[in-house]
Amino acid sequence: MSETVERLGAFISASPTPFHATAVAAAALRDQGFEELPVTGTWGEEARGAAFVRRDGSLVAWNGARRSAVDPMRILGAHTDSPGLRIRPDPDAGRLGWLQVAVEVYGGALWNSWLDRDLRLAGRVAVDSGDGVESVLVDSVTGVARVPQLAIHLDREVNSTGLRLDPQVDLTPVWGLGEPAAGDLRSYLASLADVPVTSVRAWDVGFVDAQPPARLGRDGSLFAAGRLDDLLCVWAALEALIGSRSTEAPTDAVLVLVDHEEVGSETATGAAGAWVSHVLERRHDALGGSRTDLLAALAGSVCVSADVAHAVHPNRPERHDPRHQLVAGGGPAVKFNANARYATTAVGAAEFERCAEAAGVPVQHYSHRADIPCGSTIGPLTAAGLGVETVDVGTPILSMHSARELVAASDVDLLLRAFESWMGAP
Ligand code: CO
Repeated sequence: MSETVERLGAFISASPTPFHATAVAAAALRDQGFEELPVTGTWGEEARGAAFVRRDGSLVAWNGARRSAVDPMRILGAHTDSPGLRIRPDPDAGRLGWLQVAVEVYGGALWNSWLDRDLRLAGRVAVDSGDGVESVLVDSVTGVARVPQLAIHLDREVNSTGLRLDPQVDLTPVWGLGEPAAGDLRSYLASLADVPVTSVRAWDVGFVDAQPPARLGRDGSLFAAGRLDDLLCVWAALEALIGSRSTEAPTDAVLVLVDHEEVGSETATGAAGAWVSHVLERRHDALGGSRTDLLAALAGSVCVSADVAHAVHPNRPERHDPRHQLVAGGGPAVKFNANARYATTAVGAAEFERCAEAAGVPVQHYSHRADIPCGSTIGPLTAAGLGVETVDVGTPILSMHSARELVAASDVDLLLRAFESWMGAP
């Protein structure tokens, strides 16, 4: 178990942004003999075996076990993005001796958790190479900025009346001293990317918690890290796909990693976009199947939509439905919602529970309180977009959307075992 959590920690540390996450996943897949297919251009025989295609923060991969054109697929999907602070296009700010970087909040971040943390800058830079635009990953690796909270002496009521933050005013990080000058951030990005400053055209760059993942608890039973939502599921799904790769594998297992879940998924590489179905169509075409064959295969397929769930909070158990309080260390949860905020149907739930049981993994059930609005995830979008039976599954965590979240170390192992069974099951 200890080794499992360490592998997850290494993946999270190497993946400060969706672009990094898919780059790390691509390297792991290439290492295991998966063929990388071009985003543009026609796919041929090489799409028949274990292969993948990567575009920005999204990646689709399969294990090469498909036998016929109408074979049903076992799909496992997760999202690569996490809430955080994104740097604005004209970011050079500051006053009164402080250098600052103008940011915008990405997704439903718990704002207070971003205060007084060492922040690491990472993302991708669009570089003009002379005859085109090239995307270069950048990462400060260590902390370079911080959003300073007002001292208690200057905000006397904060503990009694609650912390109120205006994202336009209170979340701008400091990252140095002096007078701001236009081009400060651009030249910093150029130095990280190791390119001339004049070639930096634009960027998708943000701040994440710089603190490395860590084991906690008196016996190391807890694991704290940024971006557990949803890199925990991304990592487990990736390992499960790699594990399923074998000529004897009975299942056509497909891994789907998508970006922009935290902002609604309606983007070129999000779950609500056309990208994933385009990839499946191109794959089917390369494998000699018709579009009708693909539609038949999809009609018989099942998708696990993997995203974290809410573990019961010991200080606020009343925030959870009393009959659906997820126990940390109790295994993955299947998420249900009568109004389809989760896509799970009885059949999908039964399929997943069957696989989990075969691996000796206990399964819990999640259902949100009726008087608190329920979140959602990529499940309903995959179900609708692909017309595929979908089950929403997730590991219980605490502090979802905080800059640093908390999970039971044993749940990491249970999720991986359940996914391995899912991807390898007949
Ligand atoms: Co999520």
